[in-house]
Amino acid sequence: MKTYRIATIPGDGIGKEVVPEAMRVLDALAQLDGGFQFEWDILPWGCDYYLEHGEMMPEDGLEILKKYDQIFLGAVGLPELVPDHISLWGLLIKIRRGLKQQINVRPAKLLQGLESPLKNPGNFDIVVVRENSEGEYSDSGGRMHSGSDEIAIQNAVFTRKGTERAIAYACELASKRSKKITSVTKSNGLSHSMPFWDDVFHDVVSKYDELQQSSAHIDAMAAYMIMKPAEYDVVVASNLFGDILTDIGGAIMGSIGIAPAANLNVEREYPSMFEPVHGSAPDIAGLGVANPLGQIWTGKLMLDFLGHEQLGEKLLSAIEYTLKSNIKTKDLKGSATTTEVTDALIAYLKQS
Ligand code: NAI
Ligand code: MG
Repeated sequence: MKTYRIATIPGDGIGKEVVPEAMRVLDALAQLDGGFQFEWDILPWGCDYYLEHGEMMPEDGLEILKKYDQIFLGAVGLPELVPDHISLWGLLIKIRRGLKQQINVRPAKLLQGLESPLKNPGNFDIVVVRENSEGEYSDSGGRMHSGSDEIAIQNAVFTRKGTERAIAYACELASKRSKKITSVTKSNGLSHSMPFWDDVFHDVVSKYDELQQSSAHIDAMAAYMIMKPAEYDVVVASNLFGDILTDIGGAIMGSIGIAPAANLNVEREYPSMFEPVHGSAPDIAGLGVANPLGQIWTGKLMLDFLGHEQLGEKLLSAIEYTLKSNIKTKDLKGSATTTEVTDALIAYLKQS
C-alpha cells in the first residue's frame, strides 16, 4: 500500500485543535479508498517551542522537512508572548521560501449550506493565485534613527522569474477552469513594480489565446470581490495583494474559519505545505469551538495535489453536508463543537 509521509505541524492555539480533526477525516478517506495511508509525524514546532528553545523550529528544520512527502500545518502565533513577526518569519516564511513554495493557491467558493454575509453573493467560485516568495514581503530594508527622526524602509522585490511563474501557473489553472483570468495591479500608485507586473502579465497571457483576461487595481478589486464576486474565476496577485484578497474571500464565504490554502512547490522538488488561511485564533483557543472546516478543506487541497481529486470532491460534499445539516460552529452562528462537526462529517463519509 502507498504510504504518504506527512510532516504535521499543529502549531499554536486552535491549530492544535483543528489539525487532529482534519487528520481523522483524511484517515477515514484513505481507509475508504483502500489504496493508500497517511503516516503523520507530529513536529511540535511553533511558539511553545520558541519559548523553550529560542527558535521556532530546529536549525536543521528545513532538512528534516525535505524528507517528507508533504507538510500539513495548522497555524502559528502566540502574540501575547512572541511577537508576530518572529513567529511568522521564524517558521512559516522560512518554510515557504526555503522549500521554494512559490505559489499560494486559495479558493473562495460559496458552499451549499453557508450563508454569505453578502446580500447577493451569486454562486461565486474564485481561486486566488498569490505569488508566495517575494514581492512586498521582503526583508530588504531597515530602520534607522529614533524619535522624530526615525526612518523605516521596506523594499518590494519583483523578479521576472517569480512574477512569470505565478502568472503562468494562474493561466494554466484558468485554462482548466472557466478560462477567465484577472490580474491584480496598482500601476497608478506603485510606479515601478506594478507596471513591471502588468508587462509580465501581458507577455504571459498573450500565449493563451483561449483566455478572457482583465486587470483591476487592488483597491477596486477589493470592492469587486464584495460587489460582484461571481464575475471572477482565477485571480492572480502579488504576495501582499493576494494576502488581502484571500481574507476577503474567506469573509464572503461566511467565515475565515473555513478558508483553505496550499503553498505549492510546483516542480515537486520539495514538499508543499497545506495550511488554512486563518491564524491561531488566541481569542477562542482551548474552548473546543474552533471551526475545523478550514483545516479539513485544506486537507482536500492536499488530496488533490497527491492526485486523489475524486476523494477531494467527496470531501467537499461532506463539508457541504455538515453545513446543510446545520452542524456548525459558533463562527457560523451554530452551536456545534469542533469535534461534533468532524464526527458528523466522518459519519456522512462512511455511509455515503
Ligand atoms: P486569526 O485568523 O487567528 O483570527 C481572526 C478572527 O477569526 C478571530 O476572531 C478568530 O477567533 C476567528 N477565527 C479564525 N479562525 C477560526 C476558526 N477556525 N474558527 C472560528 N473562528 C476563527 O487572525 P489574527 O487574530 O489576526 O491572528 C492571531 C494569531 O495568528 C497571530 O499571532 C497571527 O500572527 C497568527 N496568524 C497565523 C497565520 C498562520 O499561521 N498561517 C495566519 C494568520 C495569522
Ligand atoms: Mg493573511
